[in-house]
Amino acid sequence: MTDMGHMTPVPRDCCGKVAGRSRTQNFIRKNQLDSPAFVCISCFCTVLGLMCILTIALLIITQSSITSAHDSGIPQAYSRMTSKDQSTEIRFRLSPDVTPIEYDLYLHPDLAKGTFSGNVTITIQVKSKRNYIALHQKDLNITKASMTTYDRQANYDIPIKDRYTVEALEELVVTFNEDIPYGMYQLAFDFEGALQPDKIVGFYASRYKDEHGHNKVIATSKFEPTYARRAFPCFDEPSFKAPFKVKLVYPTGDGYHALSSMNAESSVMNKPELGLTTVTFAKSVPMSTYLICFIVSDFVSVSAPARKLNESETFPISVYTTRAQKDKAAFALDIGVKIIEFYTKLFRIDYPLPKLDMAAIPDFVSGAMENWGLITYREARLLYDQKTSSTADQEGIVQVIAHEFAHMWFGNLVTMGWWHDLWLNEGFASYMQYKSADAILPDWGVMNRFLPEALHPVFITDAKLSSHPIVQTVANPDEITAIFDVITYSKGASVLRMLDNFIGPETFNWGVTTYLNQFAYLNAETADLFRILQTAAGNNINITAIMDTWTRQMGFPVVNVTRNGTTFTLTQKRFLADPDAKYDPTESDYGYKWTIPITYVTDKNAVSTLIWFDKDAAKLEFKLSEPVEWVKFNHDQVGYYRVNYDVQEWNSFVEVLQTRHKRLSISDRTSLIEDAFSLAHACQLDYTIALRMTSYLDKEQAATPWRVAAVKLRTIDNLLGSTDVLPKYRQYLRKLVDITYHDVTWRVDGFEDHDTRRLRSSVLHFACGVGHTECLDDAGVIFKKWIDDIEDVRPHPDIREAIYKYGMSHVGKETEWNIMFQRFIEETDASEKLNLQRGLAAVQSKWLLNKFIGIAVDEKYVRSQDTFGCLLAISRNPVGNPLVWDWVRENWEFLVKRYTLNDRYLGQLVPGIVASFATDIKLQELRAFFDKYPEAGAGKAYRARALETVANNIKWVKSNAEIIDRWLDSVTK
Ligand code: BES
Ligand code: ZN
Repeated sequence: MTDMGHMTPVPRDCCGKVAGRSRTQNFIRKNQLDSPAFVCISCFCTVLGLMCILTIALLIITQSSITSAHDSGIPQAYSRMTSKDQSTEIRFRLSPDVTPIEYDLYLHPDLAKGTFSGNVTITIQVKSKRNYIALHQKDLNITKASMTTYDRQANYDIPIKDRYTVEALEELVVTFNEDIPYGMYQLAFDFEGALQPDKIVGFYASRYKDEHGHNKVIATSKFEPTYARRAFPCFDEPSFKAPFKVKLVYPTGDGYHALSSMNAESSVMNKPELGLTTVTFAKSVPMSTYLICFIVSDFVSVSAPARKLNESETFPISVYTTRAQKDKAAFALDIGVKIIEFYTKLFRIDYPLPKLDMAAIPDFVSGAMENWGLITYREARLLYDQKTSSTADQEGIVQVIAHEFAHMWFGNLVTMGWWHDLWLNEGFASYMQYKSADAILPDWGVMNRFLPEALHPVFITDAKLSSHPIVQTVANPDEITAIFDVITYSKGASVLRMLDNFIGPETFNWGVTTYLNQFAYLNAETADLFRILQTAAGNNINITAIMDTWTRQMGFPVVNVTRNGTTFTLTQKRFLADPDAKYDPTESDYGYKWTIPITYVTDKNAVSTLIWFDKDAAKLEFKLSEPVEWVKFNHDQVGYYRVNYDVQEWNSFVEVLQTRHKRLSISDRTSLIEDAFSLAHACQLDYTIALRMTSYLDKEQAATPWRVAAVKLRTIDNLLGSTDVLPKYRQYLRKLVDITYHDVTWRVDGFEDHDTRRLRSSVLHFACGVGHTECLDDAGVIFKKWIDDIEDVRPHPDIREAIYKYGMSHVGKETEWNIMFQRFIEETDASEKLNLQRGLAAVQSKWLLNKFIGIAVDEKYVRSQDTFGCLLAISRNPVGNPLVWDWVRENWEFLVKRYTLNDRYLGQLVPGIVASFATDIKLQELRAFFDKYPEAGAGKAYRARALETVANNIKWVKSNAEIIDRWLDSVTK
């Protein structure tokens, strides 16, 4: 392919000129966005929300404890809530003066009735005299409560004066006639609850059909972050660690048994009654409530031994599945053993429990959950079947196991003290998953995929004014749920990757081991980690000062590089996607400046050099010892920042890519493409340069640069959707992908390496997605052949998703849809069901799509866990998007009822649907919807981001459509 850019006149200003007319419009739009009316509405809503909570809390308190409210003995924390002007002081935290020492818990789920009953005795330490104790509960019916002393020579009952629940705080309060003194006590409760059938959090029922088509029910739990309180009264905060003694009851026979975090020690048949068995588990190590797990099921398992640090000792790893899926457990088991052995050696700390089980749960709200000793997964994230799982699915399984196993140390052994430091759990697990997967599968190129899977997605969120720092205050359950977001996970992982790199893996690993040892069975804060790493790193570097700039303020910098011979001058500026965004630097304690580890490689030196750009320095200047052709900064995009160069430097990268692209590493190629497009998107670089950076792609055989280019080019494609530039742009993309399309083909060869397989699926999706005729026709032929095949022999898993999707969109009519729908209904494999679901969502018929929307919310066909995925798949189909948008707006109340506003996936639904909106009308619709339903729950931050995204999209089209149009004219002439 020729360098198309050399034929192009390069306009000086990427946005200014063409945007001349639209600047005023942009200005108006921005003013509207920030107008006092808008701000007022949102303030009003927040205040209204708080008042609502307060009123509800007051109502509940007064109703459930009228006697207490009139009594001077009313607990301090609650009496304060009666004062109107102190509404913001609602305390969501429990007192640190009452701590659990041990839980003795008995749970009896009744699978037939969908209920459970139980009792818990919590040994507690009271640290200051008091006349009440508050702990958590939600939706439980407490039938009995008692309190006795525990540490006296002759222990005695303490009469309970009153007990009541405070719904708004999800608390249970027990009061006493007089102050109880410092000491140990046992607080005991009998309780009942429902195995929540639709919420899939807490202790809940999950259903499946066995190999004979019989309905089966299991009981399972998912407690993070605040759902243990739905299963038993407890001190449900991460810092209250205590050992658990668990007893579970299960129905005798039919293969049923019970699992928990610890190993079973004994079991007694016909207890509590005939037909039931009670099993007692070993006492656990001290742990946070969100990590305990209970499963009563008829699952079967496969096991293998994993070596401990002392290699002659082992402990068992097991994978539990439904009976019919046992064969799909082998891959996860093999990977599990390798990953745990890798971590044990890396951290030099043994996994502390006697066993580690993994279970694939048919109904599961998230991807996986790191319950200690008993990790639970969505079926599609754990079970591997060569016949149905693609190479990407297989890699996903490795990643998810690697992520959850990392939590056995980061999160389970050492836990954040409070949720604002959640990144110490999720950031570490999200980084370690790449380190460990890369170590056990060195040929897969997993580390390269850190960029498109973690760094690049979080750059999008963090380049908005509506972002937030990694460490952010959170109090109520909605805020806690909401912080499980891309900033916590991926920015957390990215800054750890950067830190690992600049202090060096040996120092990093030493520091990490020290941190884990020092805080084992305890809780840590961000400052603890940095302090220990400081000791590891020595005095030449101030870890806390550097890392605070990345963790305690939102956003990230773009480093601008100018060159004069061998002298380079670097400056930094906060990177924002919106070129007109205004912000106040004094809002941040660090002034939106960062201390940046600048790294670079050159054509003369492939070994990365590190220099520091201090946050207080106006610029960084340095001189190379010899002349070089090019310098690539931020080697492998390890640093959490972008780099912009002079036009000549970008031009030399275009040339290097076209003539000798392998001189740059895969991650450097990937990062140049990504930076160029993102800078152009933010009007900091000429779009024609970004587009020219992709002109070498016909020579690119690595999956990741292609994947990133495809994402960036498709983003433009989506935004141009509302303009008449689209056909011309697509024409260009079809030409761009043509050679590689013919290279990869639809034929999967058994001897190909992993990366080639990943490349194939990216390129096929891209080619078909931009309407490459041959690609669509080929997909159509393979699709029809499969639809007409009564034997139902399916295409290779690696091309299956593309065949289903593009075959359906290209040639699928009602007949094909119905056949595919039938296969969807009959499908028992979770991954394959998702493939079929995506295919069904791609049909071009409005009425079939409307029918499918109805099906997506019908539990008979689509599990509640998959509804959002299904709706979003339909919304990604341009024909389906307006249908889903209408449907969601009309049925919002139904969705809120079904999932609650605490569901973070519900919070992400509307932002997902509107991500490509790029017109004023659509923005108004979005605003009107948010105004109509001001309560956002865990979706609050997602809403702000969605508004910013759509406003930016509108500006983008006004500023860039014409520029791209002119460039296309110049290269296609
Ligand atoms: N600890 C989380 C599970 C979780 C997520 C609990 C959200 C509460 C709210 C678990 O370790 C996790 O991060 N799971 C991911 C999958 C993983 C591979 C990134 C998930 O469920 O999305
Ligand atoms: Zn996690």
